[in-house]
Amino acid sequence: MYLTPEEEKMYNGYYGSTIQKCMEILVALGDIYDATEMVDISSAQVSGVSYKTIGDSGLEYLVDLASDPKAKTCVPSTLNPAGVDLDNWKDLGFKEEFTKRQLEIVKAYRKMNIMTTCTCTPYLIGNIPLKGSHIAWSESSAVVYANSILGARTNREGGPGALSAAICGKTPLYGYHLDEERIPDLIVDVETDSLGADYGAIGYMVGKKIGDKVPYFKFKNKPFPNDLKSLGAALASSGAVALYHVENLTPEFQFAQNRILEDNIEQITIEKKDITETREKLSTSSEKPDLICLGCPHSSLDEIQDIAEFLVGKKLKNELWVCTSINMKAAADRMGLTAIIEKAGGKIVCDTCMVVSPIEDLGFEVIGVDSAKAANYIPSMCGLDVVFDDFKNLIIDY
Ligand code: F3S
Repeated sequence: MYLTPEEEKMYNGYYGSTIQKCMEILVALGDIYDATEMVDISSAQVSGVSYKTIGDSGLEYLVDLASDPKAKTCVPSTLNPAGVDLDNWKDLGFKEEFTKRQLEIVKAYRKMNIMTTCTCTPYLIGNIPLKGSHIAWSESSAVVYANSILGARTNREGGPGALSAAICGKTPLYGYHLDEERIPDLIVDVETDSLGADYGAIGYMVGKKIGDKVPYFKFKNKPFPNDLKSLGAALASSGAVALYHVENLTPEFQFAQNRILEDNIEQITIEKKDITETREKLSTSSEKPDLICLGCPHSSLDEIQDIAEFLVGKKLKNELWVCTSINMKAAADRMGLTAIIEKAGGKIVCDTCMVVSPIEDLGFEVIGVDSAKAANYIPSMCGLDVVFDDFKNLIIDY
């Protein structure tokens, strides 16, 4: 793989051992995927934050890396969710020992100049790459959003790959950075109107069927950005989809449409009964959930507003967490939405989520979710049952 003289210096240790190690990781990745050169990136999003997922070995690796003053990111970089709400962990019942280690991880990332906003929706809080820009993001739901909705270019980076890219400001040029990898492989024709949790169900069923292919969707009704957020997260979790196009909507649909017209590609059709069946399959229990967890991916402000409006005058029987970033929570506080949710008995939970936090240690048994990604992961990652439905159907009030 070709390296510029400057990149050679980084690779050969001229700037110290940490930058050298990071360049070695990037070059190794480039060699595996036949990249011909590096490309400069404009932003990074780093996963591998929750102590639940990276454990002591990950913590030690990060603390060691951060001890080198040269280990600093050189492009705007944000963090994926952590294992606890960094401020309100005690009130939510998270254990002190777990939290202590979690805070050490976040501290190490901060030392490396990363914004410790801890969210899987960095595009809602200012980490917004421009169309066509090269970036290195690692959270799968954020990757698919950046590629599909923002028109930026990123592969599904692993945590160390994204961190190395953030420190070097570069990533190997292959995969979704290239036009030819952004061509649709098949058409998905959704023949029925879709609403709310239907988008997650569609994403789940299509992702399972197509793996890492690039789908081109035709929807009967026009999805909103929050619908696309759910669709992409599900596509990326049941399959390994990193990019999709939506006819007349997403920024590269014209490019994709031209390629469809040139090639005779496979087409799959989705009917109402497919969505209904998938929605049913995503629940592992028919019990009433004792905790409802919304915000996978992390809630936007308008989603929080919808929840708050629905809760006005209600008193919840089941516990409710609305997972989001500290930025959205600050706006929700100012707008009086937090007060409404709390008055009903719910909580806005920041920095973490129902999958990467140890909710299995908090005494809950059945989790209600409106996210197909969460429904897919909670049974395997937390060992708990899930009920998948629209949030209004999950809420039980007095
Ligand atoms: Fe985000 Fe957690 Fe879902 S990281 S996409 S809320 S599983």
